Amino acid sequence: MKISLSITSKALVALSFVSVVKADYKLSDTIVGKGFYDAFNWLAIPDPTHGRVNYVDQSTAQSQNLTYASGNTFILRANFKDVVSGSSSGRNSVRIESKKRFTYHVTVYDVRHIPQGCGTWPAIWETDTRFYGEIDIVEGVNSEPQDAATFWTAPDGNCKQRVKQELDDPSSPIILKDCSEGCAVRPESRKSFGTAFNDNGGGWYAIERSPTFVKLWFWERNNAAVPADVKNGQSSVEPAGWGEPFFDMTNDNCDIDSNLKAHNLIINLTFCGAYAGSPQFENAGCPGTCQGFVDNTPGAFDKAYFDIAGIRVYQ
Ligand SMILES: *[C@@H]1O[C@H](CO)[C@@H](O)[C@H](O)[C@H]1NC(C)=O
Ligand SMILES: *[C@@H]1O[C@H](CO)[C@@H](O)[C@H](O)[C@H]1NC(C)=O
Repeated sequence: MKISLSITSKALVALSFVSVVKADYKLSDTIVGKGFYDAFNWLAIPDPTHGRVNYVDQSTAQSQNLTYASGNTFILRANFKDVVSGSSSGRNSVRIESKKRFTYHVTVYDVRHIPQGCGTWPAIWETDTRFYGEIDIVEGVNSEPQDAATFWTAPDGNCKQRVKQELDDPSSPIILKDCSEGCAVRPESRKSFGTAFNDNGGGWYAIERSPTFVKLWFWERNNAAVPADVKNGQSSVEPAGWGEPFFDMTNDNCDIDSNLKAHNLIINLTFCGAYAGSPQFENAGCPGTCQGFVDNTPGAFDKAYFDIAGIRVYQ
């Protein structure tokens, strides 16, 4: 009797301690299915990275079925039916940007499929395009199996983070890198991007941004470790219980808060350009030139689509 009483009081003390230190976030925005049409603007702008792309406006995207919403499905894709004229800016595709901006927040991206295939360069990211600070959450090219999440600052951001000197060299030393050159980290999972991600039913990406850090997590679709609050899209989340993030940018050598503004959420799909073009295109074993492939083989882009089950923002 005495023993069980003392356990109970200890448990009570532990519980009240947890409720004091935990930082939980409340759901502020649920973006699911047709909700994307309320939450985002379609931006028909020239690609700042000079991709082989023609971003279309919302009515064109809907009439050409490049965006499609139903139930808990939102599809965003490139045209996969037509040959592209050499004199145009490139293949029709879509770039959407949230109407709202967010500062300190958590976003959970529940994604079933991301664009795959030679020449594709899809991205889910958060930035204010008028400034430099940018967090690329999902980004990669040409169907590689691993995401490359990247933190960018202005040239004078004076922000350094500990990252591998060479992203893809397993023996590469960890250095303090200046994030004006991009501080990139890959999740361990080799199902975090491209065909491997899609064949596995996708998964969840999450970001937590506070005044002093930026953290990213990724969980594969069938990972037993995916936290219940993430998996179930609960009305509050507690990232402190999510385990080790794969990306953890701190303010040790960086004023995170002065480098990042209030950010829009952006989803875009471009082709070729600085990252998916030469030499990455050839190195990935893709045929011919990137522009020739993108222009002339529309059928190769039938899997160049996002299928997003939902985006939830917590503040
Ligand atoms: C598309 O996404 C990447 C981020 O990975 C960005 O660098 C590029 O400027 C974007 N293009 C457009 C038009 O937004
Ligand atoms: C539009 O795209 C959706 C999703 O890929 C598909 O289910 C639907 O059949 C398409 N509609 C037409 C008219 O092609």
